[in-house]
Amino acid sequence: METCQCEAKWEELEKIIDAHRGQPSALIEVLHQSQELVGYLPRNVQAAIADGLGLSLSQVYSVVSFYNYFTTKPKGKYQVSVCMGTACFVRGAPAILERLVKELGTKVGDTTADGKFTINQVRCLGCCSLAPAMTVNQKAHGRLTPDTALKILKEYQ
Ligand code: FES
Repeated sequence: METCQCEAKWEELEKIIDAHRGQPSALIEVLHQSQELVGYLPRNVQAAIADGLGLSLSQVYSVVSFYNYFTTKPKGKYQVSVCMGTACFVRGAPAILERLVKELGTKVGDTTADGKFTINQVRCLGCCSLAPAMTVNQKAHGRLTPDTALKILKEYQ
């Protein structure tokens, strides 16, 4: 598990924890606020939360690892979400995902070494008529091929 060098945010993190000190039932709320502040939930942040709320680190980690929303790894500047819902899947989404992961030298759920892209796979982006589709941060791109998907990401570099 990663630890963050997030001293600049530590004071604010302490305030979030202090507002719920000794309240284990506030864990989800504190995790949400902390991830919003730091960007992810590395080990030292989880340990501070556990200490503040009166929980063990393993109790905090079990919640963090249960919910997809929470992440223990830093996210890239651009969140790339490749849709693997049925409409996109049957129109070639697996080949798009495979190509992006290969070309960027990363894995699904991980961030590229330069910190630019995090590649995610998701279920239905709600724009099935554009299948196969992906989003880069909030912007949707559709009717993709592996080549056009890669070309789009190069425009963000
Ligand atoms: S299945 Fe991909 S957008 Fe709906």
